Amino acid sequence: MLSQLVYVSNRKANCTAEEIEKILASCKQNNPSLNITGVLLYSEAKFIQLVEGEAKVIMSLYDKIKKDPRHSNVMMISYNPIKEKSFPSWHMGTRDISKTDVQFKTDISTEDKKVFTEILGGKEENGQKVLNLLKRFF
Ligand SMILES: Cc1cc2nc3c(=O)[nH]c(=O)nc-3n(C[C@H](O)[C@H](O)[C@H](O)COP(=O)(O)O)c2cc1C
Repeated sequence: MLSQLVYVSNRKANCTAEEIEKILASCKQNNPSLNITGVLLYSEAKFIQLVEGEAKVIMSLYDKIKKDPRHSNVMMISYNPIKEKSFPSWHMGTRDISKTDVQFKTDISTEDKKVFTEILGGKEENGQKVLNLLKRFF
């Protein structure tokens, strides 16, 4: 069964730009053979990641990611069975959202901004809303 999981977490101070590069290298190394796709957004303080693939594979990846010392307070905000992938060609698309902040402030509606803040706070649990917002970054 295909499934899609979204979580948010706090990026720790030890997670430097170099560590982000290493995370991306792990994604590149591991995700294609596991048929895992998705997106990873990060700012100086936060991560939002959407991963999709076979349910068992996604769960074991999530278990591994949760234990990663480069972030904390990993909180799942949605987990759903899906018919098809939303990001089939991204073995892990990434965006530094601190740099898009200015654009973000002008380009999206007040309602979207509210949803985004709620996602980051782990309060938004409407998977569809989260997905729609993440799609705008890609
Ligand atoms: C925010 C975040 C997202 C991550 N996403 C992935 C991922 O999609 N795929 C992956 O293999 N590792 C990911 N990792 C890294 C894993 O926690 C782990 O370090 C890595 O998979 C170990 O790879 P290895 O078994 O090849 O050494 C992520 C780590 C963090 C902190």
